Amino acid sequence: IALWRYTGGHGHSLGAPPDLQSLPPDARFVQPLRLPGSAGPMAEIDLRAPLELSAQATQSNLFPGPATALWAYTARTAAGEALNPLLRARRGDSIDVGLRNRLNEDTTVHWHGLHVDEANDGSGLHPVAAGASRRYRLRVDNRAGLYWYHAHPHGRTGAQLQRGLAGLLLVEDEEELALRQRLGLRWGERDLPLMIADKQVDARNAIVYKDGADDWIGNRVLVNWTPEPYLDVIPAWYRFRLANVSNARMLRPCFLHEDKPLPMLLIGGDGGLLERAWPIDDLFLAPAQRADVLVDFGALAPGAKAVLRSLDYVAMENEDESGAFAPDPMGDHPGAVAMGEPLDLMELRVIECATQRPPAQLPSLDAMSAVPAPPDTAGWPVRALRLRMDEQGRWFINDWNFHLSGHEPAFTVKRGTREVWEIRNSMTSMPHPMHLHGFQFRVVSRAISPPDIRGRQVAANGLTAQDLGWSDTVVVWPGEIVRLAIDFSQPFQGVQRYMLHCHNLEHEDMGMMLTFAVAD
Ligand code: C2O
Ligand code: CU
Repeated sequence: IALWRYTGGHGHSLGAPPDLQSLPPDARFVQPLRLPGSAGPMAEIDLRAPLELSAQATQSNLFPGPATALWAYTARTAAGEALNPLLRARRGDSIDVGLRNRLNEDTTVHWHGLHVDEANDGSGLHPVAAGASRRYRLRVDNRAGLYWYHAHPHGRTGAQLQRGLAGLLLVEDEEELALRQRLGLRWGERDLPLMIADKQVDARNAIVYKDGADDWIGNRVLVNWTPEPYLDVIPAWYRFRLANVSNARMLRPCFLHEDKPLPMLLIGGDGGLLERAWPIDDLFLAPAQRADVLVDFGALAPGAKAVLRSLDYVAMENEDESGAFAPDPMGDHPGAVAMGEPLDLMELRVIECATQRPPAQLPSLDAMSAVPAPPDTAGWPVRALRLRMDEQGRWFINDWNFHLSGHEPAFTVKRGTREVWEIRNSMTSMPHPMHLHGFQFRVVSRAISPPDIRGRQVAANGLTAQDLGWSDTVVVWPGEIVRLAIDFSQPFQGVQRYMLHCHNLEHEDMGMMLTFAVAD
């Protein structure tokens, strides 16, 4: 049995292990969760005015003791300096963001999840050299939802994100604002972003990264740039916009009170709201994925504590429906096991409600947004993409490895056409969160899914609740075959090049990425 598991910072073979912090239990949940504010990390900036960002080395007091060196997108605000600000835009807005690169190496701003043209996509095809500047100008035509932005230079994305170059982008529209009103929620109060990233942190509070590393798993968790925070909550429904911005750690978030899951509804994903809310206990959230959830603390008395935990899992036994080992469709060895270890991310402390308590009942969430069913793809051309590792431990998509194949487009898609991309993962592999630039897509089927995923099916063709909205990142589990429906319509002209890659950043940097072109 091929065993892939999180190593919590051990098992990296490059040089001496860093002197990592070990976290005494009483060091957890001592800092309040950082909320969207006016300066520092999580400062909010409205993109209605042009914005000047500078990518630079800076520092921030994240942990008790010495300040932590970070690489951050910084901006001036009325209240001071914003670090990796939380950007807000309205659907339909044209945004204009300048980037000044004050690092000693190439960087970019990639607008993860947005429908953009190549020049403004911020992929490694258009690096901004050390000392140089450029502007990103784009029209936000995505649905309301939580998107994000991050550095994307070739071969350095893992290093730059681990050091800090990432932030959230909230897109809003009328429908979203109306829903918030119906739910009686105010952004920044009971409607909160939870941007989760694990980091390897050494005894001097420095963030550690080894170039050329594999699957960088941290020993500390930052939620909104706060290590293992706590949040005071009143006994009521909350809305959390979860984003996993870790390099490589798959999360399985769950809100627990006395080890029992609190009532939770999944209402949205990468590309905005689902049509209706789905009750869930927990979900898988891979690097780059987002989830919009409602969580009910209403049954808890003041003084009670709950925890946001990433649950452990063994997601893979490669059984077929009858419980026998499924034959590997690609002829690999059967029997992979994907495992994750439990990790407490945040504590929730129930406090007395100072004002009138919000209603315990939610309004109907059966028709939140018009989201069509996954399309019938009969007759659409199918592009087969196979994920695999070679004997030398290099990752491939079909025969493409970004370093070996060069950066030329692997194929060209005709603009305005629709295709099925069938992504197959090898049985002996690990889950790969595959991300497509430039287009939100629909998941239309999952086959040979591991039992854990089969148990989450809520719709035909093996789809889980998370598959029922628009996505830009999809997890393909070991042995699994996931089919995506992609509509390559876009308002741009000429040849536009985009990337398809694994958003495990170490896989991406090791070449698990290809360029494709869209052209008339
Ligand atoms: Cu979030 Cu190609 O990236
Ligand atoms: Cu991968």
